[in-house]
Amino acid sequence: MEPMTGAPVLAQHLGEDFALYNVDTVEFTAAMPSASVDFSVYSPPFSSLYIYSESARDMGNVAGDEEFFETYRCLIREKLRVTRPGRLTAIHVKDLVYYSNSSANGDRGLRDFTGACIRAHIEEGWTFHGRVTVWRDPVREMQKAKPDGLLFKNFRTDAARVRFGLPEYVVTFRKWASGMDDTPAVTHDTDEFPLEVWQRWASPVWMDCRETDVINARLARDPEAEKHLCPMPLDLTERLVRLYSRRGETVYSPFMGVGSEGVVALKCGRRFVGTELKPSYYAQACKEVDHAAETYAGGTLFDRAADAEAAA
Ligand SMILES: C[S@@+](CC[C@H](N)C(=O)[O-])C[C@H]1O[C@@H](n2cnc3c(N)ncnc32)[C@H](O)[C@@H]1O
Repeated sequence: MEPMTGAPVLAQHLGEDFALYNVDTVEFTAAMPSASVDFSVYSPPFSSLYIYSESARDMGNVAGDEEFFETYRCLIREKLRVTRPGRLTAIHVKDLVYYSNSSANGDRGLRDFTGACIRAHIEEGWTFHGRVTVWRDPVREMQKAKPDGLLFKNFRTDAARVRFGLPEYVVTFRKWASGMDDTPAVTHDTDEFPLEVWQRWASPVWMDCRETDVINARLARDPEAEKHLCPMPLDLTERLVRLYSRRGETVYSPFMGVGSEGVVALKCGRRFVGTELKPSYYAQACKEVDHAAETYAGGTLFDRAADAEAAA
């Protein structure tokens, strides 16, 4: 692909159907051409939950939500500009726990991070379009993080301390703007996507997306890597890419991490633009996307087979 922007980048890796950049996404997106993205899909940094790198531009490297949203809002605004009228952005988020040691009044509970992301998108001009709950196993959450709220001991001795397991959400927003009637419709062939598929995808709760379906087995096996990176599950991403974009269109991830959204985009016959600040993640993304480009290079026959498999 041709380079997308004039913004200064630390490194770039261009392939026939992809362009990857090691760059601060806020600066980069601001320099991207208007209406150049057909669909964007990503997990944002979850406010100050994880610091990914030492860089002051790391959006996880913030004192709290106020500072995070100040920067994230700039991205949300530019993302709207670069999206084609009528098209969507999908974010993968969850609510966040907080503990007594970080609370002014010593309580512990949940922060409505999902709601804060929705409000920020609406305030920056997006139309709130949909939200799907992605089921996650509370037993796995308990085993991974041992949260006080999921301990059987607390359930037995003081149930006021226990809470429900945390699901993930995919929240979608649409660019409702003049020119949307000129944007090609995202059509689906009923041979590839019969009614049962749509009925399953239309469910407000996705029970069948696997938490462990992440970019490679190493990440799945390494709880530290998974915890800090929070890779976007591939099956979930694939469903969104197939649902909301057409073959040959451009999918954008402003926070591509190790490249999950890029791998899926290429697998689905889309073009991909991705940005990542942390050099080691960017380097891994280059490898993963190169591998996907080789694996999935090919034509319509393969794509149809992949669509049928995804829809099965
Ligand atoms: C939730 S992770 C994304 C993981 C990714 N979806 C994947 O599957 O690998 C958020 C990513 O945002 C990156 N990040 C944080 N601040 C950034 C910035 N200003 N510009 C670009 N990337 C940034 C982090 O380094 C991290 O990789």
